[in-house]
Parts: sequence; structure tokens; C-alpha cells
Amino acid sequence: MPTHLTPKQKKVLDFIKKFTSKNNYSPSFREIAKYLKKPLSSAQHFVEELQNKGYLQKEENVARGISPIETGNVDIPLLGYIAAGEPIEAISNPEPLSVPKTMLSKNGLHYALKVKGDSMIDENIYDGDTVVIRRQETATNGQKVIVLINGSEATLKKIYKEKNGFRLQPANSSMKPIFVRDLIIQGRVLGVLPNYEDRTRPSTEGVQISAQKQFELDRIITGDVLEVMAQIPDSSIHLAVTSPPYNVGKNYDNHNDHMDYQEYLNWLEKVWRETKRVLAPGGRFALNIAPTGIKDFVPIHHDFTNQMRKIGMKFRTEILWYKQTMLKRTAWGSFKSPANPHIVPSWEYVLVFTKEKDRLDGDPKNADITKEEFMNFSDGFWKISPETQRNGHPAPFPEKLIYRLIKFYSYKNNTVLDMFGGTGTVAVVAYKTKRHFVHIDISEEYNDVAQKRLNKAKNLLPLFSNSQGLL
Ligand SMILES: C[S@@+](CC[C@H](N)C(=O)[O-])C[C@H]1O[C@@H](n2cnc3c(N)ncnc32)[C@H](O)[C@@H]1O
Repeated sequence: MPTHLTPKQKKVLDFIKKFTSKNNYSPSFREIAKYLKKPLSSAQHFVEELQNKGYLQKEENVARGISPIETGNVDIPLLGYIAAGEPIEAISNPEPLSVPKTMLSKNGLHYALKVKGDSMIDENIYDGDTVVIRRQETATNGQKVIVLINGSEATLKKIYKEKNGFRLQPANSSMKPIFVRDLIIQGRVLGVLPNYEDRTRPSTEGVQISAQKQFELDRIITGDVLEVMAQIPDSSIHLAVTSPPYNVGKNYDNHNDHMDYQEYLNWLEKVWRETKRVLAPGGRFALNIAPTGIKDFVPIHHDFTNQMRKIGMKFRTEILWYKQTMLKRTAWGSFKSPANPHIVPSWEYVLVFTKEKDRLDGDPKNADITKEEFMNFSDGFWKISPETQRNGHPAPFPEKLIYRLIKFYSYKNNTVLDMFGGTGTVAVVAYKTKRHFVHIDISEEYNDVAQKRLNKAKNLLPLFSNSQGLL
């Protein structure tokens, strides 16, 4: 989702748009610099910022390879206020509210409501924020919805189907869920427009964005990856480690893991752009991806690499994670015949990218990798068995894999992000290795597991001063 532009960034974007529509090709950096009456480096800097914010795309190594991404805003009606347990307080003359097109569904009717109260703060929906809603009468478990209960009381909660009715779950650990037999769903929340001016968040450990904006670290956050990432400040993450949903029809709560392949890539490209924005210069992105099925082989790791290079991330290296599972194989294809034999993917990739430069600055006192570990991990062929304790998740990371990435690529006290955090392996290992973390996952169920694992790790500290188990 594109974020706000400063007046100067807007000026540069407007110039690029006008130039492109007049000439049918985009301006060169030199022409942008001339227009701004600034040095070339300044033009390059603005283009980079606009790319990071999702307004421009740039083909690497192509002259005049910049093109504006058509985003634009549309007006939807701001209908009124939503407060838990009260009818929607309608605004008599609904005002139009301008929202980014990308926030809305392709079809359907949309409206907005202002939020009163703090029953959804753990989902980053605060008193005074505005929620963007798609009018609909159905929802799936865990979605944030506007529902009508007892005929007239409207409320914004997360919905779960239970045996004899529904559970309406506040996203605030100090509040209890409501159980009802009947309800009417009035719409689903697609996004939040934060009202930072009025927001006073309780935080001691947050990253300071400005006097008003803070992002609390070391939390298990339930929410959509793009919605939550939009709240992470620029350049505040040192290492991102993730394994995205593979689009192979795995059964994840709330997530369509069977998108059209191009739609899937387009969606992830937005996530990669956000990742680049939140990474500090020299920050690393370790992207784990498994080769796809034996028969319908899709070169997904190449497609990801190309996407990352297109958005300007540097491909630093790739690690081969050899899973040592060959003994268990059953799929041979044409056994003992060259007719159609199968190669069984007994490995996964960890593709490593860097933002802007390879070097990550940090206090040498916080480099906590041992000589033995360094020598061991810098050999890029990592023999690590898959996780056996799955905690109800189809594809959790083994802790050992994450331990290596964190120790090799970050300093103590750095911040590590997993935007598809699942059962919390990255959060747990970050905690154990004395890094901050940001964990995002859309599934409340996996996040419950993640929270429990984290609580357990907190009780066990200082277990990780002994790193032998993870070498
Ligand atoms: C391959 S799994 C990651 C597993 C994780 N590495 C672990 O150790 O448990 C991908 C995760 O992405 C989550 N997910 C899918 N769609 C999402 C979305 N739109 N926003 C946030 N998380 C999402 C799924 O719930 C799933 O847990």
C-alpha cells in the first residue's frame, strides 16, 4: 500500500508522470536533476524513495527504466462512528473519504467508519482511527468484521464460528470475548487509516518514528502482512527472515494459498517492496523457498530472485539447506529407467539479499558469533533436518536454521522481522539470541502457538548462552 509522500517527493512524482505522458518515455536521472536544480545523486535518491513507497517501478540497468505505478485514490463514504455495543452513530451527511485504490477489493461496495474505543488495539486499530470496510454478509474465521447483535448493537470484532453460534473476539488482552447465537455481518475490515495525531500508545521499547508515531517491538502481531508492515518505520529492521506461503494449497487459516500464479507474484512483490522500505541500509533479507512439486515444477526461486532484483535489492548469496530426508523418499518416477525419473527436492533455498550496500554497520561489541560458528556457517551448504515439532503448522522453520541466519547476519540488539511468522520460530530465536523481533501472521491460531513458545523461552532464559545445541 503506498504511503504518504512529502511535498518534494510529490513534486518529483508529478514531474515524472507529466514527462512520461507527454513523451511516452520516462525522464532520465539527469533530466530529473535538471528539473530539481539539484545534483544527480539527489534525483537518484528521490527515485529510490518513490520506489520504496510503491509509487515508481524501475527496471534495473535499463536507460529511462522508471515508470509510475498507477495507484490513485477513490472516494468512499465515511458513514459514521463504530463503538462496541452501540448502534452505528451515523453522520447525517456522509462525507466522502479519499482512500488508496489498493486498499479496496476489486469489486463490491465500500464504506468507512471511525472507531471509538480500544477493543481492537492488538490489531493496531486505535480510538480515532478509520476502518475501511467492504459491505458483505459472510466472513471466514478470524476476519475483522462489523456485526450487528441483538438487533441493533453494532460492534467491530474478530469473528469465529463456534459449535452453537459465534465468538466475537476483541483484539485486546484485557477484554473478554462475546458469545452470541445469531448475528448479522455487515462488512469486513479491509484496512485501517491510522489517526496518529490522537494516538498515544503505551510503549517503552518502541522504535521512535516521530513525536506521535511509534511501533512497538517484540510483539506477536495478528494481521495482514501489508497492513501491519505499513506501520513499520522506514529503515528500522536489520534482518528480515521469512518463508512465504508457497501457493500450493496448504491449509492456512484465512489465506488463499491457491492464487493464480501471477496474482501470487504480484501480491508478494508488494511485500518485497515493503521489506526493502523497512530494512536499514545494509540490512539483509533471507528468503526461504522450497522447490515446488516434482511434476509441475515452477521456478519460483528464480521468479523471486528476479522480482527482488527488479525492485533494486542486491542478490548477495544463496544458501542450500539440505534437509537430509532422502531415506524417506517414495516418489521415484520411472524407477530404474530413464523414461521419466524424478529428482526429489531434498533441499530448500535461502536466498539472501541486501539493501543498498553489503555492509551492515553495528557496534563490534555486539558481534556475538563465535569463531567456530562463523567458520561453520560460512560454508553455504547447511545440513539441517526439518522441524519435527510442528505445533499444528504445515511448514515451521527448524530453530537451528534461524539461529544460523540470525547469528551470521545480525548483531546483538538488532531487530529481526518475520512477516509470515507462523508459529514464531524467528521470534523465539531472536528473543533467545537477544535480538528484538517483529512477528506478523494472519492466523490467530498460529500466533497463539507463537505466543506460548515465546512465553516458554522467556521462562527458560538464559538457556541460549549455550549455543551448542544449535550449531
Ligand atoms: C510457510 S508459513 C511460515 C511458517 C513459519 N516460518 C514457522 O516457522 O512457523 C507461511 C505463513 O504465512 C501466513 N500468512 C498467509 N497469508 C498471510 C497474510 N496475508 N498476512 C500475514 N501472514 C500470512 C500463514 O498463516 C503461514 O503461517
